[in-house]
Amino acid sequence: MPSTQTLLSIKSLKKHFPLPKKSLFSRHRPYLRAVEEVSLDIKKGETFGLVGESGCGKSTFGRTILQLYKPTSGSVVYHGREGEEIDITALKGKDLRALRRELQIIFQDPYSSLNPRMTVGQIIEEGVAAHKFYKKGSPQMQAYLAEIMQKCGLQPYMLNRYPHQFSGGQRQRVCIARALAVKPKFVVCDECVSALDLSVQSQILNLLNDLKEKEGLTYLFISHDLSVVRYISQRLAVMYLGKIVEMGEAEEVFSRPLHPYTVALISAIPSMETEKGEQPPQKILLSGNMPSAANPPTGCPFHTRCFMAQECCQRVPVPLKEVEPGRFVACHFAEISTEEKRKIALKNGNVKTE
Ligand SMILES: Nc1ncnc2c1ncn2[C@@H]1O[C@H](COP(=O)(O)OP(=O)(O)OP(=O)(O)O)[C@@H](O)[C@H]1O
Ligand SMILES: [Mg+2]
Repeated sequence: MPSTQTLLSIKSLKKHFPLPKKSLFSRHRPYLRAVEEVSLDIKKGETFGLVGESGCGKSTFGRTILQLYKPTSGSVVYHGREGEEIDITALKGKDLRALRRELQIIFQDPYSSLNPRMTVGQIIEEGVAAHKFYKKGSPQMQAYLAEIMQKCGLQPYMLNRYPHQFSGGQRQRVCIARALAVKPKFVVCDECVSALDLSVQSQILNLLNDLKEKEGLTYLFISHDLSVVRYISQRLAVMYLGKIVEMGEAEEVFSRPLHPYTVALISAIPSMETEKGEQPPQKILLSGNMPSAANPPTGCPFHTRCFMAQECCQRVPVPLKEVEPGRFVACHFAEISTEEKRKIALKNGNVKTE
C-alpha cells in the first residue's frame, strides 16, 4: 500500500525551450512553454499517473524532474534516505550522477532505446558496473544478471542475445531489467506500454505492479491512454498545455471528473461494456486543436476549446485549487457537477453519440 510520505516534492517547475527569433532585430526571444508552473507531490510507494493529449508536455515534465532537461525554474525535492531532503535541481556533477541511480526512466520505444550492437547482458551490466555494484564479467555479476532477468520474466540464457532477437514485449522487459538492475527508488515510465499490443500491455503492467510491490518502488506513469492509467495509478494528474488542470485519486477523477477537459477525455475512452439495450455512451468531442505552447491563450488556457467557457475564462487566469481534500481543479466552474457539465456539453452541441 502506498504510504502518505512524500518521495518527490515538485514546486513551480517550468521548462521553456527557446525558439528561433522571428527577426534578427526583435527584442524578445520566443519560448515554447512545454511545462508551466507545475507543483505536485509524489508519495512513496504510489503509481502517479500523468495523462494529456500528445504534445501537452508530459515527457518534458518527466525528463525535467529527473534533470535530463535542465529546468527553467522551480525545484524538485527528493526525500531520500531517512529524513534527507535533496533539491535535485541544485545538484551537479558527481552528486547528480550518484543520485541518478535512484531515479530511473523507461521509454516508449524499446527498440531505439537499446544499443543494437550490445548483447542484452552487456546492456544491463553497463549500469550495474558504472554504479560499482559488481565488476564486469565477475561471477557475482553473472549471478546478479541472471537474477534480474528472471525477476523481469526473461530466461538467463537470453543474456547473450542481441535486442533484434527479441519481441517488442521482451525488449520492454529488457528495458525494465536495465532500469531495475541499479535498484532505483523512483521510475518514470514514459508511454512504456504504448507500442505494445493489448495482451502484452497487460503482462508488462502486471510485471511493473509486481516489481513495485517487491522492490518498494514509486512510479510516475506517463500515458495518453486513459484506460491504462486508470488500471495502474492510485492518483493522477491531467495536463493541458504544460499545466496541471485536474489532480486527485484516480478512481475519483474517473468517476467524477470536474474539469471540462477531463470530462471530455474520459467520455472519449472506448468502452466495450455496453450491454444490449443499454444507452451507448455519449462522447464529448472537443472543437479545434490544442493551441501552441509558444503562444498560449490568455486567461484559462483551455477556454478556446471549452464547452463551458464564459467571458471571464478568456481574461482571468485560473490557478489549480483544492476543491475537496486531495482533489485539485483549475476551472472557474469547478463547483458545477460532472453531470451538469455533461448536460452543458450536450446542449452546446459538442457531443457525438456512438
Ligand atoms: N528538446 C526539445 N526542444 C524543443 N521543444 C521540445 C523538446 N522536447 C519537446 N518539445 C516541445 O515541447 C512540447 C511538449 O512535448 P512533450 O514531448 O513533452 O509532449 P508529450 O505530452 O510527451 O507528447 P506525446 O504524448 O506525443 O509523447 C511540444 O510542443 C514539443 O514540440
Ligand atoms: Mg511524450
